[in-house]
Amino acid sequence: MTKFSDRIQKSAKISPIILANDYEPKTSNIETKTIHNIKLLNNYLCGIKINFHLLLKLDRKQISKINKTAHDFGLQSIADIKLNDIGNTNTITAENLWNMGFDAIIVNPIMGKKSLKNLVEYSHKKNKGIISLCHMSAPEAKLSYELKIKSTSKTKQLYKLFLDWAIASHADGIIVGATFPNIINYCKTTARKKLSIFSPGIGTQGGSAHKAKKLGSDYLIVGRTILNSKNPLETTKKLVNDSII
Ligand code: XMP
Repeated sequence: MTKFSDRIQKSAKISPIILANDYEPKTSNIETKTIHNIKLLNNYLCGIKINFHLLLKLDRKQISKINKTAHDFGLQSIADIKLNDIGNTNTITAENLWNMGFDAIIVNPIMGKKSLKNLVEYSHKKNKGIISLCHMSAPEAKLSYELKIKSTSKTKQLYKLFLDWAIASHADGIIVGATFPNIINYCKTTARKKLSIFSPGIGTQGGSAHKAKKLGSDYLIVGRTILNSKNPLETTKKLVNDSII
């Protein structure tokens, strides 16, 4: 088996779009809907992202079936749980997710540099990936991720420290919101090819697929813009087109 970063890169030859399967609370048949979306949109996706919207509502068998369907159509599956705990809990959580067929997990680096590094090493032994938060997409992220902090003798902003930790830990990727294009640019210039940039916040949250890709995002995470569209297939095709640079 190849490593996660190679697998998703291969899947992204045609499209950088990762579908966030986030349904409104009252939506019924979410397992069937997710599988339908994979079958309908797979030619214009490189992966899917599964959040608590599905993880809290479906059982292991249903999640495993969704992940198997994604794999059957050449897509990678990412668990978005922003994992942040002690080492023992992190590895047990990861193991449970790997057993359901996930390829990568989004984690929160506030767990600490050493814990992040340990989790990356543990995951890489199984050819699984770790994507670490760097700067979130919501406007209020500015107040937290851009905080100036004192690290060793230098003062730097929190997201820059998280970027350094992700690079030093050999994480597969970082999350930077498409709503903060300058920060995508900074992270790309600093990290170059050492990790990939995954950007949520396209469309509904105001981020531009084209701008994000142009400034350095490798993968674009999109949920409601596709899910709430009258024609999800055409919307996804348009996003793929917009992302060509
Ligand atoms: P929409 O509907 O806005 O959904 O396209 C975006 C998806 O991405 C998640 N999201 C984030 N995940 N860091 C993350 O790890 C972020 O900064 C971030 N912003 C949005 C969101 O939960 C949804 O699944």
